[in-house]
Amino acid sequence: MWSVQLYTRSTGTGVPVVLLHAFPLSSAMWLAQREGLAGGCRVITPDLRGFGGSLLGDDEPSIDLMADDVARVLDAQSIDQAVIGGLSMGGYVTMAFARRHPDRMLGLVLADTKAAPDPEPVKDKREDIARRVLEDGTAVLVREVLPALTGRTTRQSRPMVHGRVRGLVQAAPTAAVAWAQRAMAARQDSFETLAALKVPLLVVVGEEDEISPVADAEAMAQAAPGARLEVIQRAGHLTAVEQPEAFNAVVAAFVRSVPGGAAPTRG
Ligand code: MLT
Repeated sequence: MWSVQLYTRSTGTGVPVVLLHAFPLSSAMWLAQREGLAGGCRVITPDLRGFGGSLLGDDEPSIDLMADDVARVLDAQSIDQAVIGGLSMGGYVTMAFARRHPDRMLGLVLADTKAAPDPEPVKDKREDIARRVLEDGTAVLVREVLPALTGRTTRQSRPMVHGRVRGLVQAAPTAAVAWAQRAMAARQDSFETLAALKVPLLVVVGEEDEISPVADAEAMAQAAPGARLEVIQRAGHLTAVEQPEAFNAVVAAFVRSVPGGAAPTRG
């Protein structure tokens, strides 16, 4: 076993804000956040293991391990504490980070994700996709995962956005796809983690999200005392890509409101 150092793109100065991407994408999905949030914060967008420019390593699939990778990104940039945010799979990693590295968080952003673990049929489906991707490549993702990644408004009226997401899905490395499916299938329930949070939580969801619907977002917001819930109109699962200005506005307002953001760096 060797420790993986995540490839990371960073822009801006100020409160560090780490954004963790969805499955099966990469930090490329945060382009509009690197541009739109950099005026007020230091935006740090790693490629989770195996995706984008990051190596997969030889560890067993684990969301906890992905969270520890993110802690090493903070170490490498001499950051004690940051706002940690993630969308969907990135949200699962964010909740694992909250469990494993609670002292390193200024606040949490959970977008289009869920705190509940997978039911058995979903675990089986993930294993099926993992096997088929390893055998046949990413065509199965384009057929079975891509359609629900964006909402109906984007699919109907913003073909360029849907096409960009399709390109990212097709580019996903198959070994990382299989590894991440198995890691997500093994993830634990995070409701207790949310109930125990000592830092502010922002929950964001697209009103047209078919994968992690508004009800999942409401359940997470209810679990954490004082959490804020923002529903983004005309967006599906990929709120940050489909409605970047609305997404950036709610995240920027949240970051400004987080206590302790003024002294972000170590040493
Ligand atoms: C994602 O967007 O990261 C995936 O939909 C997560 C999942 O498969 O649960």
